[in-house]
Amino acid sequence: MNNGDVSQGRRRFLIGATSVVGGIGVVGAAVPFVASWNPSARAEAAGAPVTVNVSKLEPGQQMTVEWRGKPVWVVRRTDDMAERILEMNDRVKDPLSEEASQPDYIDGPLRSLKDGYAVLIGICTHLGCSPQYRPEVSPADLGEDWLGGYFCACHGSKYDLAGRVYPNQPAPSNLVIPPHRYDDEFTLTVGLDPEGAA
Ligand code: FES
Repeated sequence: MNNGDVSQGRRRFLIGATSVVGGIGVVGAAVPFVASWNPSARAEAAGAPVTVNVSKLEPGQQMTVEWRGKPVWVVRRTDDMAERILEMNDRVKDPLSEEASQPDYIDGPLRSLKDGYAVLIGICTHLGCSPQYRPEVSPADLGEDWLGGYFCACHGSKYDLAGRVYPNQPAPSNLVIPPHRYDDEFTLTVGLDPEGAA
């Protein structure tokens, strides 16, 4: 298990304009430590759960955590964002994620374990690009009807803020949700279910 917080930057990376400031400077410092691991320790860490302190996320902000080599997005969701997700219920392909890859303990249109936070694997379900976080309403390039979500620039797939894919997109299904749990109010562990190991 890896402990850390947003400012510390250990065992995860933060990318893009929407990410949390503060993690970049320590990445280089961590390299010699990582390089000193033996292969079995590295292999173990590659599959290990990742624990993150989400307390410094601002409302509407997204951070990226690396888990099993994949980007995992954590968004601090506002009430307004939750309302916009519900408004999208009849405009997305699979509003209740019946066909989606997600843990059993995730259900409903908001697809979140805890009110106010979203956790999604940041990989398009079409061919694996990483979509852009576009939380704004009606931006010029995405149109009047856009209520916030994710846009995959590779082939144009659109998802809402809960990672639910629009109909008739190259992407066949909603964004994947990894196993995760909250150890306390602001401590998120990706890779473990609420009841134990994933
Ligand atoms: S990889 Fe995202 S639309 Fe093709």
